[in-house]
Amino acid sequence: MSDSKPGDLLTKQQVEDAYGVLKNVVKHTPLEYSAYLSQKFNSQVYLKREDLQQVRSFKIRGAYYAIYNTPAEVRKRGIVCASAGNHAQGVAWTAHQLDIPAVIFMPTTTPNQKVDQVKFFGQENATIKLVGDTFDAAQTAAFEYCHEHELTFIPPFDDLHTMAGQGSLAVEIFDDAKKEDLNIDALISPVGGGGLISGVSAYTKAVSPNTQVIGAEPAGSASMDLAFKSGHPATLATIDKFVDGAAVKTVGELTYENAKAYVDGLVTVPEGQICTTILDLYSKSAVVAEPAGALSVAALPGLRPKIAGKTVVCLISGGNNDINRMQEIQERSLIYEGKQLYFLVNFPQRPGALKYFVNHVLQDGDDINRFEYTKRVNRGKGPVLIGVQLGKLSNHGPLVQNLAEFDPEYLNLADNLSLFDMLV
Ligand SMILES: Cc1ncc(COP(=O)(O)O)c(C=O)c1O
Repeated sequence: MSDSKPGDLLTKQQVEDAYGVLKNVVKHTPLEYSAYLSQKFNSQVYLKREDLQQVRSFKIRGAYYAIYNTPAEVRKRGIVCASAGNHAQGVAWTAHQLDIPAVIFMPTTTPNQKVDQVKFFGQENATIKLVGDTFDAAQTAAFEYCHEHELTFIPPFDDLHTMAGQGSLAVEIFDDAKKEDLNIDALISPVGGGGLISGVSAYTKAVSPNTQVIGAEPAGSASMDLAFKSGHPATLATIDKFVDGAAVKTVGELTYENAKAYVDGLVTVPEGQICTTILDLYSKSAVVAEPAGALSVAALPGLRPKIAGKTVVCLISGGNNDINRMQEIQERSLIYEGKQLYFLVNFPQRPGALKYFVNHVLQDGDDINRFEYTKRVNRGKGPVLIGVQLGKLSNHGPLVQNLAEFDPEYLNLADNLSLFDMLV
């Protein structure tokens, strides 16, 4: 862990030093032109493919460099980290390479795919502890463990070595851009705790001051945005944990200072938009991006006028997507697009009622994909949770009109998020 303190700004030299070490350890990932996204957004879009990194995310960079900078005799005793999954994989991979013990704390909500990968990369060197619901809870437990056992904590983002390590990917981007004579107008980076964007922006502003560095945060955990508005890191009361790599309640002190100094703007992206982007990246470009990994591309629709005609680099920061999450991703995407709807409807409990509903309420191509009585009643009518996937978006108007005739008291769960969370 570096002796970093609030107010310390990362320098180009520090990022280049990190690159000097990491270029012999990690993959130099490709900077790929995306013909599909370029056409879609009327600009030149390039993807920095950190999903192709050894541990399928950029996190190996900061983890390795922070551990590398820990004195050998200290790290031999053991290192500790807290992570939503990807930093853990970087730490586990490094612990195995350097043959040192690592104790790794992850929230209980970490997708299984990530837990399994940590075991695989760390092998006998890694001990995993699943604690708490959020990254912040896992981190508190990790701090206590470090204190109790006098071990060294490897910070996931709020540390100059970690930030410099993450920034090494920007050295690769600008080296590759130079070879292709590319002038990068904008660089979009996901933001969780802020380590990646700190390293990337510090380097970018030193070598290409006119390149706009834009941070993309999930709408449900926009903690850097809150920090910018508050004038200091502040804690979000609740977060949506869906974008597990970037769902952080409080950004770091150092990452806040660096982002404030070097980042040109922040955008927040709805989780549903991120889901649509994951599916689009997969089907159109054969890129497997995890939610945080898709954030930068998911930010493009919101930046459309700003990037028209420009050269834009999006950081695909990770590809550790648990296949078991695909159904949820598809569902959230459909809901966001307005194609999947959920209603609570008083349904007559008599033969033929469902047939009537299908023939008189639904439109051509609409499909019922959920039908559940939510409580048993003997009054001839019972509340039913109905999921409808629309045949086409224009079916929405006639459907809700018919529904109002069928049951004037029906509820559209999109208008009642607590009910939605309870029932769907
Ligand atoms: C895939 C991925 N993207 C982005 C981030 C956010 O990085 P940072 O916390 O450095 O802002 C993370 C963090 O774990 C991640 O795993």
